[in-house]
Amino acid sequence: MAFVFAVPPCRRGSNDFPRLEPQPRSAPNALLQKENMKTNLPGNSLQLQSLIKQSGELELSLVSIPLPEPKADQVLVRMEAAPMNPSDLGLLFGAADVNTAKQSGDASRPVVTATVPAGAMKAMAARVDIPMPVGNEGAGLVVAAGSSAAAQALIGKRVAILGGAMFAQYRCMAADQCLVLPADATSADGASCFVNPLTALGMVETMRREGHTALVHTAAASNLGQMLNRICLKDGIALVNIVRKPEQEALLKGMGAQYVCNSGSPTFMADLTEALAATGATIAFDAIGGGKLPGQILTCMEAAINRSAKEYSRYGSNTHKQVYLYGMLDPSPTELVRNFGFAWGMGGWLLFPFLQKLGPTGIQALKDRVAAELKTTFKSHYSKEVSMAEALQLSSIAIYGKRATGEKYLINPGLDVVAD
Ligand SMILES: NC(=O)c1ccc[n+]([C@@H]2O[C@H](COP(=O)([O-])OP(=O)(O)OC[C@H]3O[C@@H](n4cnc5c(N)ncnc54)[C@H](OP(=O)(O)O)[C@@H]3O)[C@@H](O)[C@H]2O)c1
Repeated sequence: MAFVFAVPPCRRGSNDFPRLEPQPRSAPNALLQKENMKTNLPGNSLQLQSLIKQSGELELSLVSIPLPEPKADQVLVRMEAAPMNPSDLGLLFGAADVNTAKQSGDASRPVVTATVPAGAMKAMAARVDIPMPVGNEGAGLVVAAGSSAAAQALIGKRVAILGGAMFAQYRCMAADQCLVLPADATSADGASCFVNPLTALGMVETMRREGHTALVHTAAASNLGQMLNRICLKDGIALVNIVRKPEQEALLKGMGAQYVCNSGSPTFMADLTEALAATGATIAFDAIGGGKLPGQILTCMEAAINRSAKEYSRYGSNTHKQVYLYGMLDPSPTELVRNFGFAWGMGGWLLFPFLQKLGPTGIQALKDRVAAELKTTFKSHYSKEVSMAEALQLSSIAIYGKRATGEKYLINPGLDVVAD
């Protein structure tokens, strides 16, 4: 199954949008009435858009767009659940200073504005005055389909989809890119099927491909970190989890993690070196990016390796140590104190280039595992389910905008009002 990230074409439609009631999330697929779904389709659909204007103002709003029309090999999905992942927040807010955010409009159609600092506008140049639809992934019900047999076969099924513009009431998607959810799964169960699960599995695969035998992971109490912990426990891979708070240590230990190091502890460097010596981990995935941590990991890896060195070398050990920065929770500069010899590497890691390297068969194997372990290994946690309009309330932004442990929001566009 190939990954293509295309936004589907839209057509002009009538304004006969019925009020959307909250969708039943676990209706058995077999009982859904196909003809009813087709005749109840509206002419327009609400989509959450983020616009950075040349004036340096960010504007977030719900925009009424014509209902997308599926082509022959596409389906139309009525969106019921989409996670607000850190990467979505990056697109949503761009470089705007969220502390300047103001809200106008009414409760069902709020408009949020904020200021983008002048110095940050250069980095936003490629998106200035272009309305950006938001939302990498989500899940919902297939309510219409193009003429192909593969598309028709999906009508009435709950599917997980990936490809942008998911914070919307309706989204078209190629039939062969839909992951059909198990019959007992809700859209909330399937909303985070792709980004975090495939990234966590991609880390393990990268570890194997590059000849390492154990892993280090930072911001490890995240949804992704908890998934990685479950994968490693299941697959017998040693994992060193780095967190920054005692309650995160307790959370991961309660989930069976053997090695958890707290970067806020005065004994952090010694604790990390100990864990690295015990596991032999020589590859790390760092979600934070900024500050000292990536360099500290290399320092501790080198110290752990040198514990068993037979002789001194002024060039450091010959064992290659690798840190991949795969997130930017801290956007400040990465600081390195180069006391770890010369056998090391630091680079970026992104899911989509990795999947391209993996190829269709490899991707399918990962997706099959995600589908089979959706409610266990790859379970995500959300602190609240909100409509798109509720997601644009300043009180909501103040919570999910922190990207804090256990504070991820799930958008359910079925809770939003009628599009104009
Ligand atoms: N490269 C890729 O292809 C790719 C794909 C998927 C995900 N990701 C990245 O994976 C990371 C985790 O995603 P998620 O959805 O699992 O996140 P999440 O559940 O929202 O959790 C975010 C975690 O990050 C921690 N955190 C936030 N700011 C931090 C900082 N400045 N320093 C240290 N820790 C910080 C939070 O801990 P506190 O409670 O202590 O704040 C929390 O545990 C994100 O960075 C995301 O961008 C990257």
